[in-house]
Amino acid sequence: EELRIGLVGTGAIGRSHIERINTRLQGAKVVACADVNMDFCRSVAEKYGIQAYDSGEEMSASDAVDAVIVTTLDPFHEQYVTAAIKAGKYVFCEKPLAPEADACRRIVEAEMAGKKQLVQVGFMRRYDPGYRQLKALIDSGKYGLPLMLHCAHRNYDAPGFTTSMPVENSMIHEIDVLRWLLGEDYKTAEVVFPKTTRNAEGELRDPQIMYLTTESGVRIDVESFVNCRYGYDIKCEVVCEEGSLNLPEPANTMVRSNDSRITPICHDWSERFIDAYNIEFQEWINACREGRVDGPSAWDGYVGQVTAKAASKARDTQTVVNIEYDEMPEFYKK
Ligand code: NAI
Repeated sequence: EELRIGLVGTGAIGRSHIERINTRLQGAKVVACADVNMDFCRSVAEKYGIQAYDSGEEMSASDAVDAVIVTTLDPFHEQYVTAAIKAGKYVFCEKPLAPEADACRRIVEAEMAGKKQLVQVGFMRRYDPGYRQLKALIDSGKYGLPLMLHCAHRNYDAPGFTTSMPVENSMIHEIDVLRWLLGEDYKTAEVVFPKTTRNAEGELRDPQIMYLTTESGVRIDVESFVNCRYGYDIKCEVVCEEGSLNLPEPANTMVRSNDSRITPICHDWSERFIDAYNIEFQEWINACREGRVDGPSAWDGYVGQVTAKAASKARDTQTVVNIEYDEMPEFYKK
């Protein structure tokens, strides 16, 4: 039967997930919601004809809910993910799992104590058709081993961004998806500052380049340029021993007009990764109904946060930082 979902955090992305699940996807419905802003939560519940709860914890514990989605602000992810684990329910948590690595580790411990994998983290790039093509080509081994990755993450603008946010909010996506592409953990992180654009607000250093090395010695550079002022642009080139693989972009008609050729690109992430979000949630729903978790795990959430913190430290100290993870528990080995 249909999976009955309760969603806590009826903000921008929370509402877009309700919309996608209740109008486009199959096998599930969001039937309940909760938010600290009760009035707004009630208006959302009314709009979608679903039930508003006084608290996310109460909603998680309810028999009317089979699975939980957490889309609150980052510092509150832990409390709701933990409540869902206590209720023995599958829980999808938007990225990051929690802002601090210690909090991610506590979620990992809570999940292991319950003896059942329940948590999935919203690293949706793993579901983007382009990254999936890249992964299949790398895994085929046809082009030899990956040696270097050149990546860019450019936003049109980013009001309110501070110097710490490109690593913690944007490049966290590269941190997860590149580790997944390569199938290995990172060893070192470094962040350098090129010349700052005059479009950066206040103290923001923009662009920034993050360098990562992996355990086997692959070298990665990721440029973050959050005020690039031309559109939203995600690039990833994987240079292998005998070939170079480039991340494809969503297709758009090229128009010849006025003595020029123009191919539109996306304006922001919600447009660029719309397929990724749809596929991510459809696969999560299917997995929940079949009784398993097969997407990014709580462990992946922990590793992502440890890496981001190391990169932040590297940025703040302008040094190369060694990255140390706890050993992966048997529980998470597939
Ligand atoms: P938002 O500010 O629009 O919504 C956050 C909601 O959480 C608000 O409705 C707020 O009232 C609620 N909230 C705050 N504290 C709460 C608490 N203690 N208990 C219950 N509800 C509480 O933010 P947005 O953009 O929707 O982001 C939400 C989450 O989604 C963030 O963790 C963000 O990192 C993540 N996100 C992930 C993206 C991705 O690329 N996968 C893209 C955008 C957001």
